[in-house]
Amino acid sequence: MATTPPGSPAGSGQQGAHPGAHPHPAPRHPRLDPLADRYAARTHGMKTSEIRALFSVVSRPEVVSLAGGMPAVTALPLDAVGSMIGDLVSGMGAQTLQYGSGQGDPRLRERICDVMALEGITDASPSEVVVTVGSQQGLDLVTRVFVDPGDVILAEAPSYVGALGVFQSAQARVRHVAMDDDGLIPEALEEALVACRVAGDRVKFLYTVPNFHNPAGVTLSEPRREAIMAIAERWDLLVIEDNPYGLLGFDREPMRALRARDSQRVIYLGSFSKTFSPGLRVGWVLAPLAVREKLVLATEAQVLCPPSLTQYAVARYLDTQPWREQIKLFTELYRERRDATLESLAALMPAGTTWTRPDGGFYVWLKLPAGLDAKLMQPRAVGAHVAYVPGIGFYADGSGQEYMRLSYCYPEPDQIREGVRRLSRVVEAELDLHSTFDTVDTGTFRAIRPGSGHDAESMVGPANSDTYEDGR
Ligand SMILES: Cc1ncc(COP(=O)(O)O)c(C=O)c1O
Repeated sequence: MATTPPGSPAGSGQQGAHPGAHPHPAPRHPRLDPLADRYAARTHGMKTSEIRALFSVVSRPEVVSLAGGMPAVTALPLDAVGSMIGDLVSGMGAQTLQYGSGQGDPRLRERICDVMALEGITDASPSEVVVTVGSQQGLDLVTRVFVDPGDVILAEAPSYVGALGVFQSAQARVRHVAMDDDGLIPEALEEALVACRVAGDRVKFLYTVPNFHNPAGVTLSEPRREAIMAIAERWDLLVIEDNPYGLLGFDREPMRALRARDSQRVIYLGSFSKTFSPGLRVGWVLAPLAVREKLVLATEAQVLCPPSLTQYAVARYLDTQPWREQIKLFTELYRERRDATLESLAALMPAGTTWTRPDGGFYVWLKLPAGLDAKLMQPRAVGAHVAYVPGIGFYADGSGQEYMRLSYCYPEPDQIREGVRRLSRVVEAELDLHSTFDTVDTGTFRAIRPGSGHDAESMVGPANSDTYEDGR
């Protein structure tokens, strides 16, 4: 196939070319970036995530960061992990420092099946597992394998920012589906499917985070799991179940995965980032064999194989360390931090502020009193030495201004209390500026309706719930 050399004018099939185009069009921003006119269409609209944009701010010692979703890795037995990795290199250097299989180490894939059994997935075979560089690469692979430009992906409103970035790079259109404190709303999913059918859209899959949602903090209830799988079957809908937090529940046993209910319709993404270490970058995809084949080809094209050393490290950790006890220790620590967050919010936040009450995972989703905008408020918050992630990053359509994500996973309880105290003062100061409101609603989730001024790809659905803690 002929390709266009870098210095030549765009070919007629390329986006941006038009009849009569000058053979050497002037770069759009020649002084800023002389290659500005040559980037692939998929890079248009790529933007720094709201979270990465905050990195320089949150690393300042005087700032209490409720922004990052960084696990509390210092709670790991660091000496034991260190010597385990040292032993791996000195004892098994020939394997651990060598290329490996594109699908991932067979021993690790077996152990991954043991981990998934904790969530009711008892029929998974190691041959259906592909080890990935974090579940983020799993998301990218699944999207590469299924999504063409213009395809529609259904995703919760709000959605994990890293998934939105992947979908956007694939030039997919995201249609958000409303959720409430029981997770994704089945009726809203069905409405979205109907709307897509009417519009002639090609829906490739539903992307969902059923447990301790990032950023919403809520968990899909058991009846809704059944209802959503029934809808998926009725509509022949593929489901991507992204589940990095499922084992991090505070008060109950892990819920039965969607994948445990349908092995052909659900592709499951897992990760060791939250239960062990994000720095090792080990995740996985569980998919039917035909899909698995394509995923392996895609990963080989991308990274050849996942890193051997970190795969061996995770397998050895699962074989030799008390990893279930470690997860319990993590959840106790996170529960204490969640409690500090919820208690401080209840004590300090002004009326009209609402938030979700997670029973696992890392995040609280907070809705500001009517009229306030979390992104606009951010400079004031940074000035007050507290950081959060504004809600707009979690919507593909740029809505979500009145929301923010608070992460309690990393700071100590005392820092959390101080952070919430600072935040409450910032909100109060903003409220003083916006002292006239016509309505104050009490639900944490808001329905976005087409024609409401948001992008037409936005969400439909009822969403207010009266079970959320109110700030009064
Ligand atoms: C819902 C969700 N999916 C995927 C990821 C990516 O995790 P990993 O570190 O496994 O790539 C994250 C990370 O925060 C997440 O919250």
